[in-house]
Amino acid sequence: MPCPNTVPYRGNVTRESRQRLLQQKSMVLWFTGLSGSGKSTIAHAVEERLHAMGRLTYVFDGDNVRQGLCSDLSFSPEGRAENLRRISEMVKLFLDAGLVCLTAFISPLRADRERCKQLIDCGRFYEVYVKCPLEVCEQRDVKGLYELARQGKIKNYTGVSAPYEEPENPDLVLASDRNSLEECVEAAVDFVLNKLQERQS
Ligand code: ADX
Repeated sequence: MPCPNTVPYRGNVTRESRQRLLQQKSMVLWFTGLSGSGKSTIAHAVEERLHAMGRLTYVFDGDNVRQGLCSDLSFSPEGRAENLRRISEMVKLFLDAGLVCLTAFISPLRADRERCKQLIDCGRFYEVYVKCPLEVCEQRDVKGLYELARQGKIKNYTGVSAPYEEPENPDLVLASDRNSLEECVEAAVDFVLNKLQERQS
């Protein structure tokens, strides 16, 4: 709900003018998947590739955002929903600025992801499922958090003591256990480049 007694200001420099300046269309690739599936690694590598091609990008990363903007939020269902709501509002601003946004959040619940899509409401919201079996993520255990979750030292851990709902109809699936990082990045970069070439909707 907007704050009462506020009136949005519409400047003359619009999303379209910024997009023209940048010679790109803003869009969001919403990476979802288990912790350790490779969302952040892939999203940052995709950003590097796009950046080298002269595209203005930004990665919103769960672990990073939770250092500041969302540091007050827990991993309860309510905490996660609020985390994703704030990110969606941020993404909205960055889309208005004309950027290609890449988000890397577990975003485990379908209903929450759908809410993000509705909130962002840009016509170029693409869900990217970084698909990797729990056993593999747990074996990787890059941050050592799965082990702590198994010991009961972290509560509500996605995949262990909290649910992950697979996307039903993702725009792109990257199987990070079967494909190399390079292959996943290539597929995502191709996807973005195709979308950038599509006629403006
Ligand atoms: S989300 O569910 O709200 O989308 P987000 O992507 O921001 O999660 O944060 C996930 C990261 O937080 C994980 O990669 C992990 O490093 C850390 N983390 C800490 N506690 C938990 C937990 N209970 N469940 C999942 N991830 C956790």
